[in-house]
This record gives sequence, C-alpha cells and structure tokens, in this order.
Amino acid sequence: MTAALLEAHDLFVRRPSGLDVLCGVTLRVEAGERVGLVGPNGAGKTTLLLALTGVLEATRGTVRLDGQEIAPGGFAPGLGFVFQQSEDQLFSPTVAEDVAFGARNIGLSGLPLDRAVALALERVGIRGLAARPVHHLSGGEKRLACLAGVLVMAPRLLLLDEPSAALDLRHRRQLIELLRGMDQAMLIASHDLELVLELCPRVVLIDQGRIMADGPARAILGDGTLMARHGQEVPHSLTPHNRIGHDHQR
Ligand SMILES: Nc1ncnc2c1ncn2[C@@H]1O[C@H](COP(=O)(O)OP(=O)(O)O)[C@@H](O)[C@H]1O
Ligand SMILES: [Mg+2]
Repeated sequence: MTAALLEAHDLFVRRPSGLDVLCGVTLRVEAGERVGLVGPNGAGKTTLLLALTGVLEATRGTVRLDGQEIAPGGFAPGLGFVFQQSEDQLFSPTVAEDVAFGARNIGLSGLPLDRAVALALERVGIRGLAARPVHHLSGGEKRLACLAGVLVMAPRLLLLDEPSAALDLRHRRQLIELLRGMDQAMLIASHDLELVLELCPRVVLIDQGRIMADGPARAILGDGTLMARHGQEVPHSLTPHNRIGHDHQR
C-alpha cells in the first residue's frame, strides 16, 4: 500500500488520571481528502487532533505525515491546527503580526514574509484587518485570522476543531465556502453536522476514544440507529420530509 498523506496507527492517549481517552485509533487521510470527525462531547475528538499534531504526546502508536514520523513536542508545519477557541491561538498585538509569527516559523523573513502574510490575509478575506488589534475582532473575524495564521505555513493537512462554533450565519457560510475552495486535506471535528455534510464526503465517528464508524458521510450520518447509539441525531437535511409543509415524518 502506498503511503497516505496522514497515517495514524494504533494511537493511545492516557491522561494523568490513568484514563485512556484515545484507545487504539488508526486513521488514514489521503492528500486533498476532507474528513468529518464527529462524536459526542468527551469522545476524544480534540484529543485526537492534538495527538496528531504531536502537541499531546501519545502513550502508544505513531503518526506519519507524508511518511515522516511526527515527533511529540516537535513542530510540524505540514499540519495546521485551528483551535476551537480562537483566543487560545491568537497572541500577537495585531492580526498581521499574528500571521507573521506563523510565517517566521517556516523560516520566512523580509519581503517574502510580508508577501506571504498579505496573501494569507487575502485568502481568508481579511486583508483590511491587518493592523487591527486581535482583541478588537469579532468571533468570526478571529476564526478567520486563526485560519490565515495557519495557511501562511502552507500546511498539507488542516485540523479544524469545531470551526463553526460560536459563529453567526454569515461567518459560518463564509467559512464553509472558504474551506470548500481549498485543496488541502482537512480533518474537521464538528457538532455542526450540516457543515460536515456540505464539506466532507467521508466521516469518522468516534466515541469513548475509539473509531466506531469510518465511511461515506451520508451513510454514517444518515444511520439513525448508529447515530442514536452514540448520542447523535441524523442531521435535518438527511431526514425524510412530507411533501406538504416541512413536518418530519416520524
Ligand atoms: N486536560 C485534560 N486532563 C484530563 N482529561 C482530559 C483533559 N482534556 C480532556 N480530557 C478528557 O478526555 C476525554 C476526551 O476529551 P476531548 O478530546 O476534549 O473530547 P471531545 O473533543 O470529543 O469533546 C474526556 O473524557 C475529557 O474529560
Ligand atoms: Mg472537543
């Protein structure tokens, strides 16, 4: 079998309490693939994303990106992590400086750095906010600034943790269209199953630190029994509707 873009093999993460919050996760993501990561609160979605980046050290197992093992604690510019809480990600005085931090991480300086920052801001549509203090941004603008700060490092795989959480409809739509237009592979952890359906042909369902299902999004998200077993509901757009009105058929 040829190497996938991302290959996680038999990942375990044990918390200091002794609890295993990831229990043998094996996952392949191909270049350009968009995969939705769904499951109830506490299932281990965030833990899995952090373990893939090496931020959180796996107790067992390996993660490879393009065949290269990701060392825990190391910096892997090929992986771009967008935090659920933008405040955890943004720390520079201005938007441009925050994005420049990422550019410096991959060794850029001078004019190429300025160009890369401008391009990243342009790509997410916030070039006009370059000089704005990060604490003067709306929630939606913060999320876009975080995305720019990651894109500037030209990652091969984006790891997005609840990207639409706390966004208004306009910013949610803007984000969906932005992500749809990108050619990077993505692993998107989300409770927003309609967003997952729009963006991800494939879904991985996790619960209690284990992969419960991995396959076509419509088949998994549309399986009422499977979804209910893991505290989920079939998203509205996959439920049958009456022809008259819009009442659900029960
Ligand atoms: N810093 C931590 N220390 C101990 N346990 C944690 C920590 N963070 C998360 N957990 C536990 O790990 C499990 C998985 O959490 P998490 O990955 O955040 O789930 P999800 O993102 O799917 O909601 C939960 O049981 C949670 O309580
Ligand atoms: Mg989470």
